[in-house]
Amino acid sequence: MIIASFEESSDLARKVARRAKSSYVQFGKHDFPDGEGLIKIPEVKGKELVVVAQIHRPDAKVMPLIFALATAKELGAKSITLVAPYMPYMRQDKRFNQGECISNMIFGRLLSRYADRVITIDPHLHRVHRLSKIFPTKSTRLSAVGAIAEYIKKHHSDAFIVGPDAESYQWARKVAKLSGTKARILLKKRYGDRNVKISGFKDGLKGKTAILVDDIISSGHTMMETVKEVKKHRPRSIICIGVHGIFSGKADLKLKRLGAKVVTTNTIPHKTNRIDISPVIAEALKHG
Ligand code: R5P
Repeated sequence: MIIASFEESSDLARKVARRAKSSYVQFGKHDFPDGEGLIKIPEVKGKELVVVAQIHRPDAKVMPLIFALATAKELGAKSITLVAPYMPYMRQDKRFNQGECISNMIFGRLLSRYADRVITIDPHLHRVHRLSKIFPTKSTRLSAVGAIAEYIKKHHSDAFIVGPDAESYQWARKVAKLSGTKARILLKKRYGDRNVKISGFKDGLKGKTAILVDDIISSGHTMMETVKEVKKHRPRSIICIGVHGIFSGKADLKLKRLGAKVVTTNTIPHKTNRIDISPVIAEALKHG
């Protein structure tokens, strides 16, 4: 087995390779002046190739990835596993307005044409509940909840877990159970990309560290409104934990300005990464 990635995913890919006791190789990419890329892959004939791809902000990254996967197949890789720790396009899971594409399904079918197996971490499965409905190829859904719970147990004995909305229930409840803390799920109404309202906190936070847990922090508005709601109940401190930190429009700084500490896993590289998910990926690769 060899682990490969483009340069942008090399930190995580190298960590996975070390843990899986495999070698690491980097794909080459030359950018022509016209904006087209030339992809070059190392020797893969007969090898079980694992490609680690951090494809947040995906539009520019997907084409090079497809070129690399297709070339690996042509050049005789024995098998191709794609590890995309953050799986983009999953939230567009319905035709909300006439004429819109249903991105999750199209993307799932596309990747499945080029990979024998797809592995991802805490994908946003809301209206579609099973990864296999999106990916015709073999797919594996891993979770960061164990690693998040370990982080909380190590650093915050006074934690109280808060999930901003019903969708966050699956993460907040499991993290609370694994870290032996209480959890409360709030109510969210979304009126637009950057307009959400959060309500529903009652009591029990005084003197506690409120730990807000969600799968994705994108514009940050879900977390920001939750921080404001939770603040009214005078916790000792507030920490926002996101599995996937996308942070559009300096969302991390806005959360900091509200007085919250921000922590993420390294599914997406960011300065808030404090929780390493490479052991979770390496373990899944070991067990096939
Ligand atoms: C949505 O249901 C997700 O679980 C997140 O709550 C959402 O994607 C966060 O987005 P934003 O940071 O833009 O509010």
